[in-house]
Amino acid sequence: MKKLLFTVLLALIGLQVDAQYALPQEKVTVDKALFMFGDNMDWADPDMDDSSWNEVDATRYWNEQGFPVVEKSFAWYRIRVNIPKSLLNGADQKNVLILNIPKVDDVDECFLNGKLIGASGRMPSNESGYFSAHKDARNYVVDVKKDGIRWGEDNVIAVRVYNRRGSGGLYGNPLNVFCPQAAEGLSMRITDTNVGDYHCDVEVNNGFATSTSGKLEVTVTDRETGEVVSSVTKRLNIKRNKPVSISVPYSMDKMCQLSATYTDGKTGKVLVENKQLKYALTPSAPAAPRFNGAPVFGVSPGAPVIYRFPVSGERPMKFTCNDLPEGLHLTESDGVLSGNIDKAANLTFTVTAENAKGKASQEFTLKVGKNMIGQTPPMGWNSWNCWGLSVTQEKVMASTQALIDKGLADFGYGYINIDDGWEAAERNPDGTIEANEKFPSMKGLVDWLHERGLKFGIYSSPGPTTCGSYLGSLGHEKQDAEVYNKWGVDYLKYDWCSYERIREKENDWGFSSCLRPYLLMQKYLRQQPRDIFYSLGPLGGTQVHLWGIYCDGNSWRTAPDIADTWSSIYHVGFRLQEGKSQYSSVGHWNDPDMLVVGKVGWGSNLRETRLTPDEQYTHITLWTLLASNMLIGCDIAQMDDFTLNLLCNNEVNAINQDMLGKQADLVRKDGDIEIWSRPLADGSIAVGIFNVGEEDHKVDMKSLIPADKPVKVVRDVWRQKDLSPEELDCVIPLHGCRYLKVSF
Ligand code: GLA
Repeated sequence: MKKLLFTVLLALIGLQVDAQYALPQEKVTVDKALFMFGDNMDWADPDMDDSSWNEVDATRYWNEQGFPVVEKSFAWYRIRVNIPKSLLNGADQKNVLILNIPKVDDVDECFLNGKLIGASGRMPSNESGYFSAHKDARNYVVDVKKDGIRWGEDNVIAVRVYNRRGSGGLYGNPLNVFCPQAAEGLSMRITDTNVGDYHCDVEVNNGFATSTSGKLEVTVTDRETGEVVSSVTKRLNIKRNKPVSISVPYSMDKMCQLSATYTDGKTGKVLVENKQLKYALTPSAPAAPRFNGAPVFGVSPGAPVIYRFPVSGERPMKFTCNDLPEGLHLTESDGVLSGNIDKAANLTFTVTAENAKGKASQEFTLKVGKNMIGQTPPMGWNSWNCWGLSVTQEKVMASTQALIDKGLADFGYGYINIDDGWEAAERNPDGTIEANEKFPSMKGLVDWLHERGLKFGIYSSPGPTTCGSYLGSLGHEKQDAEVYNKWGVDYLKYDWCSYERIREKENDWGFSSCLRPYLLMQKYLRQQPRDIFYSLGPLGGTQVHLWGIYCDGNSWRTAPDIADTWSSIYHVGFRLQEGKSQYSSVGHWNDPDMLVVGKVGWGSNLRETRLTPDEQYTHITLWTLLASNMLIGCDIAQMDDFTLNLLCNNEVNAINQDMLGKQADLVRKDGDIEIWSRPLADGSIAVGIFNVGEEDHKVDMKSLIPADKPVKVVRDVWRQKDLSPEELDCVIPLHGCRYLKVSF
């Protein structure tokens, strides 16, 4: 409760204005601070005795000034600043001051004379989990009447700092205190609502206590033709923190851009925001049944078969099979295959799905044998990129239900994986692991998933603790594998995290020291009477893809943690995957990390991904080309029509699931244009043409298609349409792509 109040308080008081301030003439600047390691909330008190503290330069990390780098450490800074009333002279509003404090690596809470006035990032104790804000500028707004400024005398700005790792503390700019112009309290936000009815809300807010009025002009333009699709102009009167918004409808059939301009009546200050609108390329799936999955699934002899036939089309639907092998069972209403087969064999049978609109069949092979796990890259959901450590059983079930209800299960998304944050604080007296109170019944949850033909994934670390500081498996590997079997786990993400400390202790830096803990868990996993997909986590600087195969990893991370930004997609997806196709093969996939489309947030506060629609098409195109794990990272319960359309393109997903299992390579680079291509089982090739630059490019795709024989068909797989030669000349917008399947 206390924590909640504190968070609410932060939200209310810690109003942080994002605008880049043009500093006015009069400001007070201080670059010296007093510094102390440790954490004590009494240090916010302006009158505490800080005479023993060290004087430091507030614009340089503490470790550049003779203090050690200490991981996961707290420290405090106290800055004394005399604030003269003359700062208000000549200001066109006299209600607030801005404390532009130095940047903080990583998280801070900032107090003025003992009163909390702002915070950036999230402390580890935050219920949504830790989040670094080390690159953010800090502009904290102080109410001149209410926030206890001591005019003309020393004020104490106390900054509580948390450093996760590496350099720590205040850095960058000095402290600046100034009175901003009234129009600088203005901000504009565009949100895109995209469920059923598509519209953007353009909202203008006034953060300062000065009423303003002005004119808002909004235009929607077709990006392909330049045509203005709609425009609205409106006069707005905006009171402090009472945002005014207008709603602008749009259609997902066109690729549009929204431009909003607000002109402040008094000062003439202009705010401009542009937003690329969401657009749907995937044609609607037919109402008649259509099989959307690879026609194969692998299982070990005797292990339970858990497979749900991914078939789109209207419900109700009836699933039947006339030649179902003995030992297997297929549910009629939702196509869930279960049972087990004792002996190695390739069992081929035909499954038929029928509804009021038609009928479809698929010849399917169940490969029963050793090392058959992961015949195609795993598709499903993982809790991390949305809920982070705030994951609960309820949230997992909500995303699962939505995965079924919104039809994602009909496109092959079949794993439901819980990431970090499920583990109890302590093991049972007999050493077995338990779920914490957020998961009242792990076994109940898994049974519920299995009944629906969905598979269940869990998370741990070979070290004593996980990356989120929960219990790891060290010393309990056998017990954990047995508990996983008891619960019915089908996927384990085994994340290096604190094992680094063991390695440091042993001072052994060879591959064998990486392999050892992974081999240990592999041994116990493979002793269980069920198949557990073994996914290896990223290990700092070590290169898992070089040795993951030797501990029978089914996939391994080939990049550090992804974020929902273009620079992350560019780095993780493009640069770090170059030259890695040789390490990927059927059952042993490279994993550049989970998807960052939809609503993500790594904690309980979710936000729309920061990737533009073009960047999201690039993300999915690249991941499918890379034969990567396709684990959705957003809350599926809140998934909008755009994201659904993006993730449910059967032709795009078929490339990811192609049975040849060959990851794409970067085959050509012409300036900003990169061509990534992979061969497919039917003799065709999949080609992604990406514009990774910062401007649009005109591209003649004909000249870029890698072909040593005559081309028969060039198909645009997003639009599911064969292209004529004229359509091969196109413009690829910045960070955008075209996705082709070329047949010979
Ligand atoms: C690491 C992993 C993430 C996630 C977190 C959980 O950072 O790379 O994907 O599993 O740990 O703490």
